[in-house]
Amino acid sequence: MFKKKKGLILSLTVASSILLATGCSDSTSGTDSGKSKDNSLPAVGATIYKFDDNFMSYVRRAMETSAKDKVKLMLNDSQNDQAKQIEQVDTLIAKGAKSLAINLVDPKAAQTIVDKAKAKDLPVIFFNKEPDASVLKGYDKAYYVGTTSSESGVLQGELIAKAWEANKDKYDKNKDGKLQYVLLKGEPGHPDAEARTKFAVDTVKEKGIQVEELAMDTAMWDAMKATEKMDAWLAKYNDKIEFVIANNDGMALGAIASLEKAGYFSGDKFMPVVGVDAIPEALEMIENGKMVGSILNDAKNQGSATIDLAANAANGKDVLDGTEWKLDDNKAVRVPYIEVTKDNIQVGRDAYK
Ligand code: GAL
Ligand code: CA
Repeated sequence: MFKKKKGLILSLTVASSILLATGCSDSTSGTDSGKSKDNSLPAVGATIYKFDDNFMSYVRRAMETSAKDKVKLMLNDSQNDQAKQIEQVDTLIAKGAKSLAINLVDPKAAQTIVDKAKAKDLPVIFFNKEPDASVLKGYDKAYYVGTTSSESGVLQGELIAKAWEANKDKYDKNKDGKLQYVLLKGEPGHPDAEARTKFAVDTVKEKGIQVEELAMDTAMWDAMKATEKMDAWLAKYNDKIEFVIANNDGMALGAIASLEKAGYFSGDKFMPVVGVDAIPEALEMIENGKMVGSILNDAKNQGSATIDLAANAANGKDVLDGTEWKLDDNKAVRVPYIEVTKDNIQVGRDAYK
């Protein structure tokens, strides 16, 4: 069993190092895409809150792919440090970025970045971590590319409710008719983490299912932290736990590693686990029955929309010029989430191709 856990962590590490290898991981100099023709291409200065985030490594790959021959992409790893990110923004501006694409470390830092961009009349496209609407409103050249956070929670709640209704005999271990769950939360204060936590549980309740929360805590989107949490919860609640709800797949995979150590997914011992993102590692788990399902967070489209808008902005064009993206009233492009189970696993596969 120990071996299995190691294998999972190893495969996650390998997956991220392969992705890391596709671009320069230097946190200060950035990645210069399309090197030979760089000088004729407009420069886009970009930051990702940390490269060492499973889902964001796929967004990053999509950005690098769509930047090719279109813009000179200067991409920085902010290493989960907001002060560092602000310094990177200063450097990117000094290096001649014509627009900025920013995945904030702390959503509350949006105004500071906007102030810097505004001073140089530079457009800024925030992505993945949504800033307050008032910040976007305050600067006509600020936009957001992401999702409607609540949608992932609602879809995950619907997925949980469907699975519960279809398998109540098996899932309701203590036969009290209630769903006893533990919930692994993403980063507190992150709009996705807050909305997923709230809307997943509210939606299950709205479907008329009684729930009882045994434990809820943040594992910061992280697989290893989730394994530790799940180890502790299994030690405390053991088979009282009937469902594991995770705000993202990274944490769902971490929980599965812990469950496997405790003998789950062999013989009769089963635990329903759900996540969000539908990253390839999670699709594998869905395929082999260790995950009930996930909600596709479309990394490819979010990455390419970010570059489309940033490239147009850098060329002084309307951000939507020549694209099919639409802006809502908050100047946001919102890519839809999709429920993914074994039945439509190809939807997930296609999105991460
Ligand atoms: C969420 C995603 C998480 C994590 C987070 C980082 O949208 O579901 O897995 O990547 O963004 O901000
Ligand atoms: Ca029960």
